[in-house]
Amino acid sequence: MEAVVLVGGQGTRLQPLTLRTPKPMLPFAGVPFLTHQITRLHAAGVEHIVMATSYRAEVFHEYFGNGRDLGVRIDYVTEVEPMGTAGAIRNVAKRLESGPEDPVLIVNGDILSGHDIRAQLEVHRRRGAAVTLHLVEVEDARAFGCVPTDSHSRVTGFIEKSDKPVTNRINAGCYVFTRDVIDRIPADRPVSVERETFPELLEAGAIILGYVDTSYWLDVGTPAAFVKGSADVVTGVVETYALPGPVGEALILDGAVVHAGARISGGSVIEPRVKIDAGAQVTRSVIADGAHVAAGAVVEDSIVGRRAEIGPKARLYGVVVGEGAQVGAGNELANGIRIWTDATIPDASIRFTPLP
Ligand code: GDD
Ligand code: MG
Repeated sequence: MEAVVLVGGQGTRLQPLTLRTPKPMLPFAGVPFLTHQITRLHAAGVEHIVMATSYRAEVFHEYFGNGRDLGVRIDYVTEVEPMGTAGAIRNVAKRLESGPEDPVLIVNGDILSGHDIRAQLEVHRRRGAAVTLHLVEVEDARAFGCVPTDSHSRVTGFIEKSDKPVTNRINAGCYVFTRDVIDRIPADRPVSVERETFPELLEAGAIILGYVDTSYWLDVGTPAAFVKGSADVVTGVVETYALPGPVGEALILDGAVVHAGARISGGSVIEPRVKIDAGAQVTRSVIADGAHVAAGAVVEDSIVGRRAEIGPKARLYGVVVGEGAQVGAGNELANGIRIWTDATIPDASIRFTPLP
């Protein structure tokens, strides 16, 4: 079984953390996010993975190499200019080994999902579909691809990111494509699978099926989702094959120094070389390699980048702190604020007051 993983996006919503590191390589529950996906694909019977890279392509290859450590074979195909989601799929076709009638799995590189990949493949095979999409239901569908289906699970439309979603059933970013459908995507220009390929296949009467599954699902592409997903893995809300420690309130990696009087909870991750001082409270957050959280600081639902410094009694709620940034003592930051790489916030210079 083969899979294509789409990892060429720029991860703008997670900047500044993604300025040097592509989104799928950000540390997530103790390992690069993609490790969770690769091990899940492997467990579902995937032996060969082709990574469709573009932005910061070298980072993937340097870390995963030929994939042997994870029990898979990984090939990399890099787009010179981003080719869009379908363009990227078409662009890797030359590395696929499947025959024209074989199913090929395609996954977005930022999806944390507990769904049954084998069952999705089985539905695709049994009903001879051209494409079978994993679908999930969300409360607010506006940020996703909306996918209405009929009573036989046939997809009847595909509307990417609409202000007035026609259904809360959305594209979950994991597809089975019959190989020859991939070969028919135009090869010479950027193409969007969501805006072009799916609508055109539907128009042409192709069998596109929806595979609805209600297990855990999350797109980790925003800071809030990223910290939630990481915490959910650490606390065992969703299982993965790549958690480098036991499930629990916190994942404290070797080489981190956490004062006995600090409180780490909610599925937080404390990476190597991190120092957490007395009285600090870290909840549902990721504290990356070499960062320092000083005495009495509070960090909730936040990502603190490598080597960043959080000063004494600073309070962070839902914040991203870029690599090497310094948040001075006593600051209070909240609600999606992003501190840029190497920036400095002087002591006691920002207070947050929620609007009434
Ligand atoms: N190789 C390559 N080239 N990869 C790309 C490109 C490209 O030009 N553009 C995007 N990608 C990759 C991203 O790295 C990511 O893994 C995946 O394609 C999806 O891109 P996102 O930027 O994360 O899209 P989204 O989250 O807004 O929407 C997509 O995912 C939703 C589910 O999470 C769409 O597929 C929606 O329909 C879907 O609901
Ligand atoms: Mg996404």
